[in-house]
Amino acid sequence: MMGLSFRDKNILGPMVRVGTLPMRLLALDYGADIVYSEELVDIKMLQCKRVVNDVLHTVDYVSPTERVIFQTCERERHSVVFQMGTADAERALTVAKLIQNDIAAIDINMGCPKEYSTKGGMGAALLLCPEKIEMILSTLVKGISKPITCKIRILPSLTETISLVKLIEKTGVAAIAVHGRSKNERPQHPVHCDVIKAISQAVSIPVIANGGSQEFIRQFQDISAFRSVTSASSVMLARAAMWNPSVFRPEGMLPVETVIRDYIAYAVQYDNHYTNTKYCLCQMLRDQLESPLGKRLHAAQSTLEICEVFEMSDFYESCRVAQKAKKADLQSVGLVAALENDDAEDRNIISLPIRFDKRNYMSQITPKMLLLEWCRKRKLPQPVYHTVQRPVDKFFQSVVKVDEMQYASTLWDKSKKLAEQSAAIVCLHTLGLTEIKMNESDFAQKRKRKLQCQEDEGTRSLKEEHNKKLHQNGSEHRPLIQDATTFANQSGTHN
Ligand SMILES: Cc1cc2nc3c(=O)[nH]c(=O)nc-3n(C[C@H](O)[C@H](O)[C@H](O)COP(=O)(O)O)c2cc1C
Repeated sequence: MMGLSFRDKNILGPMVRVGTLPMRLLALDYGADIVYSEELVDIKMLQCKRVVNDVLHTVDYVSPTERVIFQTCERERHSVVFQMGTADAERALTVAKLIQNDIAAIDINMGCPKEYSTKGGMGAALLLCPEKIEMILSTLVKGISKPITCKIRILPSLTETISLVKLIEKTGVAAIAVHGRSKNERPQHPVHCDVIKAISQAVSIPVIANGGSQEFIRQFQDISAFRSVTSASSVMLARAAMWNPSVFRPEGMLPVETVIRDYIAYAVQYDNHYTNTKYCLCQMLRDQLESPLGKRLHAAQSTLEICEVFEMSDFYESCRVAQKAKKADLQSVGLVAALENDDAEDRNIISLPIRFDKRNYMSQITPKMLLLEWCRKRKLPQPVYHTVQRPVDKFFQSVVKVDEMQYASTLWDKSKKLAEQSAAIVCLHTLGLTEIKMNESDFAQKRKRKLQCQEDEGTRSLKEEHNKKLHQNGSEHRPLIQDATTFANQSGTHN
């Protein structure tokens, strides 16, 4: 089977609530080779929509209630194993097809002893249905191009366990993870290393030994000791990594305070739900939960409040500002698209991601002026600017109409003036006019027009003053000016 290999690997085990994106990325940073997602049930996944999140650079599987059920990103694409809860081969295949391009492998959970899993025939309930196991695994192996694995618990007798793993091996799975406890044994019961060892010797596919946290594995060096004692190909850590994911660091564990800050950085970056972040941090704080710090964490009701507890509010703010800016840029593309979709006349629109930078222009010669002069010389109507303001951040975007075509920047600007300049640049670029210059006579003409405008403006003020006085004196309404004089073009001055 091409793709991810499960030999000689240190693996983050699947953990509900804990195994979300921040924890998986952190485990990879610290040295884990493979990271399993938390178990996600097939029926829930079937309702999800795959959404590419361009702001966070993630792929999100979003439920009808807009909750992100599974979030992943490029960084983990070749290392993440998606763990599925299922009792039905066809359903499992449908989900597997939906997600296969975003993940490295798919695992079927056959070890969860919890009632919510077993009563639906999933998790450890599957261990009693070998035909179903065979059907699910072989359907996935045949139907999916990524490696398939499964995670089991041991059965009451070694003979049963061995015949089960042999049946599993025949389905063509890439590896088998073994939690060395039976369905009724709890985490505090000793792990059966001897049974894992017997399984490792009975099959030729990689066996991933699991169940050694607390009893065996407290630091990095213990991982290889657990591998040796179980003769397994690889080791999977759950609780040891939940308490401190830097257990994967060959250089040694980091203090939990450092790990917490690293975790929060990912949680903020990927907009992790604060309840999930809080849950994971509480697992890391463990015996410090009753400390003043632990109490403050407990009281936090948002990601910002969590950041405040760990003095990371500045990081939170800068991350959010960057995300907002990114969102604004992306929304701007959306607005231009909306303009493009307007009525037929408006479809003549050309858009480019250009922003006005006044350092690129001589002090008095702006893109708007260049465009206006160009239109005048060709006896074209003056450019007409149409500007909109976006409510979310009050930024502006402008469209300029020149000779029956429209030009707009896909980027948003801080002011109406800047937005108009950006639109003008798009037009100049499109028409190949980036090199045009204004000569002396153009300037002379411009100065003349400006003077004329100032005079008009002065006259208008005088007339308005006059009208006002007439009005105050109770005279009949006989204003000298009916409307305000318009000048230049409809969009205002060409500054
Ligand atoms: C919080 C938590 C959540 C878990 N969720 C899952 C799960 O979603 N799927 C699964 O197969 N096992 C799950 N497990 C079991 C672990 O993957 C693992 O089999 C068990 O903890 C023994 O390994 P350890 O000694 O390294 O902790 C979970 C364990 C914990 C502590």
